[in-house]
Amino acid sequence: MQTSDLLQATLTKFRDCYGREPAVVAYAPGRVEILGNHTDYNEGLVLSAAIDSGTCFAVAPAGGATCRLTAGDLMREVRFEVGRPAPVRSDTWANYCLGVLAGLLPRGTFRQGFDALFFGNIPQGSGLSSSAALEVSTALALARLYAIEVDPISLARIAQQAEHTFAGVKCGLLDPISSLFGRAGMLVQTDFRTLEIARVPFGSEAVLLIGNTHAKHALVDGAYNERRADCEAATAHFQRVLPHPVTALRDVSWAEWEAHRAGLGERAARRAAHPIGENERVLQGVERLARGDRAGFGALMFASHESSQRYFENSCPELDLLVAAARRIPGVLGARLTGGGFGGSIVALVAAAAAAQAARLLEQAYAERYGTPCDVIEAQPGAGAQIVTPG
Ligand code: GLA
Repeated sequence: MQTSDLLQATLTKFRDCYGREPAVVAYAPGRVEILGNHTDYNEGLVLSAAIDSGTCFAVAPAGGATCRLTAGDLMREVRFEVGRPAPVRSDTWANYCLGVLAGLLPRGTFRQGFDALFFGNIPQGSGLSSSAALEVSTALALARLYAIEVDPISLARIAQQAEHTFAGVKCGLLDPISSLFGRAGMLVQTDFRTLEIARVPFGSEAVLLIGNTHAKHALVDGAYNERRADCEAATAHFQRVLPHPVTALRDVSWAEWEAHRAGLGERAARRAAHPIGENERVLQGVERLARGDRAGFGALMFASHESSQRYFENSCPELDLLVAAARRIPGVLGARLTGGGFGGSIVALVAAAAAAQAARLLEQAYAERYGTPCDVIEAQPGAGAQIVTPG
């Protein structure tokens, strides 16, 4: 579904639900992480892109203080008072919007409630940040409706906080930043220490294939939080043993990891290796892209996936199968899991001329092993989040 079709579908559903036009509609895309896995909360570097799928959030002022919020795919409604957003136990999709409202409350005056509906086309659990797309579209639309001035980095922090406190996932800033700063044809290069963001032209010689396994292994969010805790424990170790200041794994080089891993527990040492190696791979990757060395960049993507398998253990058999299949397909330059892991999608960098055939072969390899198809789509780096109110 194109973004314009998504907007039309959202408007139609909004009218059906509330019998009037929305005052504001915002769109926010999902993201694909291309290199730099679990580096964001370790103050490291990531190359990502907004994708051309996302979520539209449409909203109009309501008469009183009560808000109505409808999930456009389920056509289910949740009600709450505008001044008192609190996490809910059923219809938990509402928590992403409620969390964002809670983050905006101190910045504005919220006397009057709202009627809202959201609708998106990012498959849930695909590792392409459907939740960040919902949070960012909610934040943009509500900020506009309540005339709140808020810069994009603060918006990203509000989305992240909603995820932490209303959804229980201690994620970094990668997903909302990619959604807000994405631009058509551009990769987003983010330094999560300084929050400096650069855009790198993607070119047309290669394309991205995203292979969604539909696998979602149990306790995904718990496993994410555990990995983060392991990284924090490893940081504390390196703070003790290294002569220079360490505030995050970003400050530890691969050579230092090798020299001092023995003092860490076995598991924490392996966990720390992944973001440390990834950070160095992003630095190399940026250089290789600048030289036009796409094959060299692709090799770093394969190395990233191996590091996930060997050190971070955030891959799974379905993702491994697709990456192994990608290695054998002519024209595939690199492939790795994208996002948190434990299921979801792989991303592959493929020579443009080979993309259609590579997509077919990936689907075939998956179906041969699992009997069910996976979805492989060609993705272009897409536009970032924006207000799209018609008229
Ligand atoms: C998820 C999180 C991000 C990031 C990635 C892994 O997408 O939401 O903050 O940590 O996993 O790089």
